[in-house]
Amino acid sequence: MAKHDPIERTTGRRGLNVVITGAAGGMCRGINQRLGKAGHTLLCVDLDLKRCQAAVDELRAEGFTAHAFAADVTRAEDVERLRGDVKEVVGEVQALINAAGVLDRKMLLDHDIHSFSRAIDINLVGPFALIRAFAEDLLAANWGRIVNVSSIAGTTGYPYPSYAASKAGLSNLTRSLLVDFWGTGITVNSVCPGVVDTPMVIQEVRDQVPNKVPTGKIVDPDEIGALITFLLTDDARSINGADLVIDGGATKIFRLFDHAQG
Ligand SMILES: NC(=O)c1ccc[n+]([C@@H]2O[C@H](COP(=O)([O-])OP(=O)(O)OC[C@H]3O[C@@H](n4cnc5c(N)ncnc54)[C@H](O)[C@@H]3O)[C@@H](O)[C@H]2O)c1
Repeated sequence: MAKHDPIERTTGRRGLNVVITGAAGGMCRGINQRLGKAGHTLLCVDLDLKRCQAAVDELRAEGFTAHAFAADVTRAEDVERLRGDVKEVVGEVQALINAAGVLDRKMLLDHDIHSFSRAIDINLVGPFALIRAFAEDLLAANWGRIVNVSSIAGTTGYPYPSYAASKAGLSNLTRSLLVDFWGTGITVNSVCPGVVDTPMVIQEVRDQVPNKVPTGKIVDPDEIGALITFLLTDDARSINGADLVIDGGATKIFRLFDHAQG
């Protein structure tokens, strides 16, 4: 069966070359695992090559096909080099998951223009750069999947403005690109997680989960992986430009009192 056969895309069982940024991070443990189990080839990209290679070694030990690449998504020369390296290793790319990101816990008066810009660069300009780099592959095939890992902090206000603004920008970048891919088989979506069980989340926030999240549970990275894996199938072809909120209902409820039954 041909590598990019539409039936394989429908089942999502195997065959796509998927670039994943932030691949050494906590959430990508779940994303990589699910994509690996679905039979995709994982092109794992991170600033931290050592941790990225360790993640790839683990994935390979489980029988998945994975490759590690170092790149700072904010550096044009890194992204250009990445594009060439990926081409050399697997050829064309069919899907891109932008998961690299930082949460800079600074409120207004702690920020200066440089710290604010850095967060925007990583969380918004980086995804743009990756999409720009691989868009021609997707357009040439007239099929593809782009998934941006945004946040519920991009759909509501949030105490850390560089994070909230960058993720809001990322979600709106997602919607805006629909015009560029009009009439093709390429979809672009944002996944907006709530509190996910990764090192990015501090204990104070974890402790709030039973009171703030209607399911009472922190989201597991595996759940994010499952959603993204579905988005890569042809069954998800009409999900386009969405902000897919996966937060246990946290952003859907306003509660005046702070106890579980309140
Ligand atoms: N953990 C959560 O609760 C949560 C909630 C909503 C959204 N998110 C988003 O999910 C994504 C993954 O978060 P996580 O929890 O796995 O965080 P993490 O810190 O564990 O992983 C982020 C990864 O991105 C990499 N990275 C940072 N800057 C980079 C750069 N310039 N170039 C390349 N790689 C870079 C880091 O090295 C790290 O491996 C982020 O975009 C984050 O904003 C996380």
